[in-house]
Amino acid sequence: MKKITIAIDGYSSCGKSTMAKALAKRIGYVFVDTGAMYRAATLVALRNNLFDENNNLDAPRLEELLAETRVSQQNNPATGATETFLNNQNVENEIRSMEVSSRVSIVAALPFVRRHMVRLQQEMGHDGGVVMDGRDIGTTVFPDAQLKIFVTASPEVRAMRRYEELKAKGMEVSLEEVARNISERDYIDTHREESPLRQAADAVVFDNTNLSREEQFVMLLALFNERVGN
Ligand code: DC
Repeated sequence: MKKITIAIDGYSSCGKSTMAKALAKRIGYVFVDTGAMYRAATLVALRNNLFDENNNLDAPRLEELLAETRVSQQNNPATGATETFLNNQNVENEIRSMEVSSRVSIVAALPFVRRHMVRLQQEMGHDGGVVMDGRDIGTTVFPDAQLKIFVTASPEVRAMRRYEELKAKGMEVSLEEVARNISERDYIDTHREESPLRQAADAVVFDNTNLSREEQFVMLLALFNERVGN
């Protein structure tokens, strides 16, 4: 059976990755976390001190560095998790820090960064069989994806979910800081010129404020089965 392309877009911290990962595992598709790729580019900028004290970025230097850095995602067979690499170094934990989270929207708004990542993502999904999670997958990366989901949840629920996730990883953050970061990223992600976050006309909307993971999964799997004619 031909494998389709599944695009899962939506706001920060509304459980897109969790949904996308669970679906990919169940149907035997590859999960691609595109936010991790923009986070990895941000880590390159931070490691090379490309931000000044006002968070102005040396974009020309970042462009040079990205051209010589391999950003990839690999499945860890021991845990089943997808991990992000810069060249051969696993940066999965580092890219989740608040230092990266608070600057990633600046990097993700740069046209050369978007062109670079979109090209990589299109190569990864060229043969179908991917569940790709991001902001512009159904609008820009794969506008012809056979199944598009747009996920949303209330800002309070999203902040609490991300806060609990970071705490569980042992990171020192306050709920206020997380909530502020989410609302800043929402603003930048929806207002940037280059492929802003918006709902594709043919996307199915999932507001999961009051849905459990299981309920969402059942809905998603039903949509998938419908699209592939199962
Ligand atoms: O999904 P995430 O929170 O890890 O994404 C990190 C940032 O990357 C987010 O603030 C917006 C940006 N992003 C994007 O611009 N386009 C994508 N396809 C995925 C993420």
